[in-house]
Amino acid sequence: MTKSEKILVISDIHGNAEALRAVINKEKYFDYVIFLGDSVATGPQPAETAELLLAIDPDISIMGNHDRELGDRSRLSNWPPEWETYMNWCIDQLESSTIDLISSYQPSGQYKLGGLNVFMHHGDIPKSLPVPLPDSPNESFESMDKGAECPLILFGHTHIQFLRAIGNKTYINPGSVGQPRCGNRHACYGIFEQGEYYARQVSYDQRPWLMALEKIEPLNEYPDFKDWLRIGFLSGYGIGKRDPWTRFGLEGYY
Ligand SMILES: [Fe+2]
Ligand SMILES: [Fe+2]
Repeated sequence: MTKSEKILVISDIHGNAEALRAVINKEKYFDYVIFLGDSVATGPQPAETAELLLAIDPDISIMGNHDRELGDRSRLSNWPPEWETYMNWCIDQLESSTIDLISSYQPSGQYKLGGLNVFMHHGDIPKSLPVPLPDSPNESFESMDKGAECPLILFGHTHIQFLRAIGNKTYINPGSVGQPRCGNRHACYGIFEQGEYYARQVSYDQRPWLMALEKIEPLNEYPDFKDWLRIGFLSGYGIGKRDPWTRFGLEGYY
């Protein structure tokens, strides 16, 4: 990457098209896009989100756990029925070419982008370790890039915007575009500009997401679940207002 080049870093969109559109509109111009996974599922605007992603055509897209599930419905058989219904609805909204594209997302590893060496990981580490959050032990972070020399590691999955320095390595989570979990109703992302990293946020119109959720007919069978999704979205806590998200929110994380 030359000093003048700009890299947009996005992660965890989860089918929130309006949030992604706000990020694109705010930044307008970028030379590269890194996407760290969890694209369209599970969210109420999967097709619209996929279309926007296709338009910005990330240089590297890392496979997220919710991307992997799109190509294989058999993975959903152990899910609670309301989640299985939501996910099947998401899959039904997508062209098979879109599913093929998402199913071809890259594995975690070291990548070169514009002369910059970056290790990229979705952030879903072995279950024996705490997920990489601001108060997690170093081991959680080190499990992502074991044996790699690269000093810069980008990851997502935990939906919190933060940075952890360990020795000569820097682990950066740009936060979640479509489903932040710290009580803030905005989209989180990051950029590299002039060789420096900047964590950013942008607010957006939440009504299209709410209207899209309202229109998902198969979920009418689960009114409490629909309410829970709506309340979580409006609270800015995504998957529920509870610890540790409330604590991170109070500590000022996005
Ligand atoms: Fe995610
Ligand atoms: Fe994830």
